Amino acid sequence: MIYLHNKVIHSRINQELESLKARGNSHRDVLEITYSDSTLKHIGLMEYHTDTDVVITNTRGDILISSAKVNGGMNKILAKNIPQVPRKGMVLQSSWKDERYIATVTPFISDKEKKGYVYMFKDTRDVEDLIAQLNRHFLFATALLLLFMLITIYFLSKALTRPLISMKEATTKLSKGNFSVAVPVRSHDELGELAQSIQSLANELNYLKKERNEFLASISHELRTPLTYIKGYADITRRKDLDASERTRYLEIIHDESERLNRLLDELFNMARMDVNTFTISKEIVQLFSFLQNIHEKVLPAFANERIQLNLECKDDLFIDIDPSRFEQVILNLLDNALKYSNEYTVTTIKATECNGWISISIIDQGVGIPPEDVPHIFDRLYRVEKSRARDTGGFGLGLSIVKQLVEIQGGTISVKSNLEQGTCFTITFKEKTNEDSSSG
Ligand SMILES: Nc1ncnc2c1ncn2[C@@H]1O[C@H](COP(=O)(O)OP(=O)(O)OP(=O)(O)O)[C@@H](O)[C@H]1O
Ligand SMILES: [Mg+2]
Repeated sequence: MIYLHNKVIHSRINQELESLKARGNSHRDVLEITYSDSTLKHIGLMEYHTDTDVVITNTRGDILISSAKVNGGMNKILAKNIPQVPRKGMVLQSSWKDERYIATVTPFISDKEKKGYVYMFKDTRDVEDLIAQLNRHFLFATALLLLFMLITIYFLSKALTRPLISMKEATTKLSKGNFSVAVPVRSHDELGELAQSIQSLANELNYLKKERNEFLASISHELRTPLTYIKGYADITRRKDLDASERTRYLEIIHDESERLNRLLDELFNMARMDVNTFTISKEIVQLFSFLQNIHEKVLPAFANERIQLNLECKDDLFIDIDPSRFEQVILNLLDNALKYSNEYTVTTIKATECNGWISISIIDQGVGIPPEDVPHIFDRLYRVEKSRARDTGGFGLGLSIVKQLVEIQGGTISVKSNLEQGTCFTITFKEKTNEDSSSG
């Protein structure tokens, strides 16, 4: 603004000087054409009515005519030594701040004797008025500009701080463990990117939390199965009428299950240490018959207790590539369901068959069955058909979702067929491992 102010004033003064000079030049032209006393008088009269003044002198400096009384300020300029004045005139006094007049001079030659100078004056008070007016305009413009800037700065800083504040609130929530935050992404600049990163961090944390909770639920579900067997068999062993060999068998199962429990807890501890939120698997080639027979023997007393017959049908030349302890969890969960959802004097069958290089393991029961509308959902977490069924089977609806997860991470698939009041068949399918595979792999 200061630069502009100086420039405008400078050019305004120049303009004044130029117009002063042009006026002097036009007087010169008149004088050069018709130099006479009356012409001189006319020129003086003309300038009398304007805000400029004229003084015409001869070459010696005698005043021929003046439009106003020649005062000190004028005299000071008239007394100046002017060496060679160009025909188009020159500026004699341009400093409007300290002097009373700004002035120009133009020479004229009418004929040999009639030579002289036309001095033009303008009172600097007029110029100062003009400049004061200009200053007022500038001041107003400056105030307006400042106001506009302040308003812009206010809104800009608002626009900048608002997303920052909402991000700060979000991170505070995150640090307090509340991961379900929503950070609005308002722009596509660095702030928007930051908001987006905070949002994806929150989503990630939320997901991890959910996954961890789900995994903890699964783990406690899986810990409960061996505990149920341990408790059940301990109850049976306490019976007085039990013969010694049977008691030893039950005690062996209790021992085995305690070990399984121990292994599960070890794994759990390792997973916590490695920050893993899912079951890990380590596969090996397993002979299916002995694997299933082991489980069959273990759960047989529990089925016998409910007066349900449990059969095992499996050829002894079948091999599959699985993680035995994870797969045992799968079969135990399915058998647990068969036991829970079957009535007395029914038959449950564990059946393994081989067809075109695929091995199917089915758990077939003659239980209550699953209503067709529930079948698509039974593998969902926490889904239970049980709501309407008045049976004391208080589960969580976790078993089948764990089964599905465990089967799939081992590379298998699971399907279900069920008829209400007739029974249910769960079938797990795996690629067969031939004997050559097992010896080479
Ligand atoms: N063999 C079966 N016969 C009839 N219904 C079954 C059978 N297996 C599962 N279901 C139905 O599917 C639902 C889901 O089974 P899932 O094993 O996931 O849960 P749950 O057995 O109720 O509880 P949890 O296994 O967590 O103790 C059960 O509520 C049950 O109604
Ligand atoms: Mg279950």
